[in-house]
Amino acid sequence: MEDEYYPVEISENIYWVGVIDWNLRDFHAYATPKGSSYNSYLILDDKITLIDTVKDHLADEMISRIEKVVDPAKIDYVVANHVEPDHSSSLSRVMKMNQNAKIFATKRAKDGLCQYYRPYGCDSWDFEVVDTGYELDLGKRTLAFIETPMLHWPDSMQTYLKEDRILFSNDGFGQHLASSHRFNDEVDNALEEASEYYANILMPFSKPVFNLLEKVEKLNIEIDMIATGHGIIWRDNPGQIIDAYRKWASGETVPKVLVIYDSMWGSTEKMAKVVVEGITSKGIEAQLLHLRKNEWSMIIREILEAPVIAIGSTTINNGPLHSVAGFLTHLKGLRPKNKKAAVFGSYGWGGGGVKFAESELENTGVEIVEKGIQIKFGPDKEDLKACRELGIRLADIASLDQTRT
Ligand SMILES: Cc1cc2nc3c(=O)[nH]c(=O)nc-3n(C[C@H](O)[C@H](O)[C@H](O)COP(=O)(O)O)c2cc1C
Ligand SMILES: [Fe+2]
Ligand SMILES: [Fe+2]
Repeated sequence: MEDEYYPVEISENIYWVGVIDWNLRDFHAYATPKGSSYNSYLILDDKITLIDTVKDHLADEMISRIEKVVDPAKIDYVVANHVEPDHSSSLSRVMKMNQNAKIFATKRAKDGLCQYYRPYGCDSWDFEVVDTGYELDLGKRTLAFIETPMLHWPDSMQTYLKEDRILFSNDGFGQHLASSHRFNDEVDNALEEASEYYANILMPFSKPVFNLLEKVEKLNIEIDMIATGHGIIWRDNPGQIIDAYRKWASGETVPKVLVIYDSMWGSTEKMAKVVVEGITSKGIEAQLLHLRKNEWSMIIREILEAPVIAIGSTTINNGPLHSVAGFLTHLKGLRPKNKKAAVFGSYGWGGGGVKFAESELENTGVEIVEKGIQIKFGPDKEDLKACRELGIRLADIASLDQTRT
């Protein structure tokens, strides 16, 4: 291949050969305004080993980077940490060039890969099924596999390179961030981007996160570098992202209240703004978040650290706007922990928006701290006073929240 794509040596004879997806703006409906990267790694040893691949439309760039180090046809081993196509959809390209390469994957990953890539000859690929504790000798180096079921798919695993103390963490510890830099000490927003990634992808999986942290402790693994599947690599104090995962998985919050709403003619919006006034009058941070003017991925990131939310829901055709309904359905799937909420909104006759939001939040396991405020058409002075008082009470709850640091 003639392309001018080059690898980055991340440790002696270990190369990043991934791709940067600068134009990615939507990752299975998760807004990614800063793009992402799909990180594959090449280890040069007696056995030449590729860890993960990239999204198929960018496979040429990965192959071009590999070619600068070694003939891709010489790859002996491929580690497939995860079935999801952002890491596996170039596998068939690699296998086409390496009929004899062996693929190391969990049992579930092997089955899942063949369900995706059977038309590309997956059934004839040489798989070795691995589990936690399996060690693979590459010559001078050894890979140890760690199964991480439901972090974030049943098939997921991570791979530890013992001699270099590198954890190839696939979908753990990453960020959706396109950058010309490869390492966390070269950018200033790695942790912030990692929290958005955690909130949107891993929030439902706090138990598997704790399981992984426990396994790492039990296996007595020292980690000098976390080579993620997305975004930048943690080489400067990788313990910081492990600590952050522990904090996020335990549901730790900071005292703030989010007011999340949608409105057709501005009545619910007026209420929302006055709820914010009430919150801030108590010196507690508040954020006003319109559901059609903010990226939901950003709102979800805020929810990760907020103990209290207020949902403003107007009524249309006996129910909520689709933005409110969609957002609450999305939130339900993310199973946020230890959250408290109240609902408010304007209606014209039969109502329905507030009731819907309350019942959706209850089904999500969010504690409704008081009955919703519903007002007919435009809010009057008394209505707005009630909204301000609601804000004051929510601020008090946020400031007393026990789960914060
Ligand atoms: C297309 C449309 C459908 C509506 N359907 C209902 C309804 O089924 N029940 C109801 O109580 N109000 C209904 N309303 C009235 C609104 O809920 C009411 O105007 C409310 O004040 C809007 O609050 P907002 O300004 O925050 O959007 C409807 C309004 C519109 C524009
Ligand atoms: Fe994934
Ligand atoms: Fe991924």
